[in-house]
Amino acid sequence: MAYETIIVEIEDYVATIRLNRPEALNALNAKLMDELSRALAEADRSDKVRCMIVTGSEKAFAAGADIKEMSEKSFTDVYLDNLFTGPTEKIMAVRKPIIAAVSGYALGGGCELAMLCDFIIAADTAKFGQPEINLGIVAGIGGTQRLTRFVGKAKAMDMNLTGRFMDAAEAERSGLVSRVVPAAKLMAEATGAAKKIAEKSLLATMVVKEAVNRSYETTLREGLLFERQTFYSLFATEDQKEGMAAFLEKREPQFRDK
Ligand code: CAA
Repeated sequence: MAYETIIVEIEDYVATIRLNRPEALNALNAKLMDELSRALAEADRSDKVRCMIVTGSEKAFAAGADIKEMSEKSFTDVYLDNLFTGPTEKIMAVRKPIIAAVSGYALGGGCELAMLCDFIIAADTAKFGQPEINLGIVAGIGGTQRLTRFVGKAKAMDMNLTGRFMDAAEAERSGLVSRVVPAAKLMAEATGAAKKIAEKSLLATMVVKEAVNRSYETTLREGLLFERQTFYSLFATEDQKEGMAAFLEKREPQFRDK
C-alpha cells in the first residue's frame, strides 16, 4: 500500500515504519496518524510480520502533534473529530510487539507515540518532553498518564508543568526507555531486538505483551491470576513442547505458532 507520510519496509519478519514528514520534524498530523495506525494494523494481520519498529529521522522521532493543523481548531472540531483518539485506539489494539526507535526529538505527541509502543530504544541524542504547556494546552494521548506510570509523579509533574526536555541518559535512569545506544547504532540495535523477538513463538510474544500491559490496568492479584492462566494455557501449545524439547536436546527451537 502506498503511503504519503510514512515509509514501510518488511524484512526478516520485521516491519519497520519510518515517520516521514521531514519538513515538520515528523509532526503528527491527521494523515500521518491515520496512515501509521493503518500500517500497524496491516502488519499485525500479516503473516510476513512478527514484530514492528516505529522510528523517525536522526533529528526527530516526532516533534509532537502538528501545531499548524491544530491551531485553528475549536473545541467543537476536536471533540466531534475525536482528535487522535481513533488512531491511538487502533495502535493500542495491535497484538504483536512494537518497538519505538527514538533519535532526536520525541516531544508532546511524539513522546506519547513512543510510549504507546511496547518499549523504547533510544539513541544518545534522544530528547523526550511534554511541552504542551507552552502552547496553553496539556498532553492529549498519554503524557500525563503513561509518563506518570513510567517515570513516577515527580518527573511527570516536572516535565508536564515546566515543559523541559529529558535527555536519553535521564530517560534510561527514569525507566522511560529500555536501552540507550550511540545514534549511529540505533537501527541496528532496534532491528536486532526485533529479529530476536520475531524468532520466538508468536503465541508467547503476544501473551507477554498482553500480560505486561495488563499490569498497568489492574491490581497485582488480578494481574497475577491473568499471568497464571496464560502461563498454564501455553502448555496446550505445540510450541511449548517444541521449546522444552529443543532445550533438552541442545538445539534451536523451531516454533510454528501452534
Ligand atoms: N507541529 C508543526 N510543525 C512543527 C512542529 C510541530 N509540533 N515542530 C516543528 N515543526 C516545524 C517548524 O515549524 C519548522 O517548520 P518551518 O521550517 O516551516 O518553520 C520545522 O518543523 C523545523 O522546526 P524548527 O525550525 O522549530 O527546528 P528547531 O531545531 O529550531 O527546533 C524543536 C526543534 C525544539 C523540536 C521545535 O521545533 C519545537 O519546539 N517544536 C514544537 C514542539 C511541541 O510543542 N510539541 C508539542 C505539540 S502539541 C501535542 O503534541 C499535543 C498532544 O499531546 C497530542
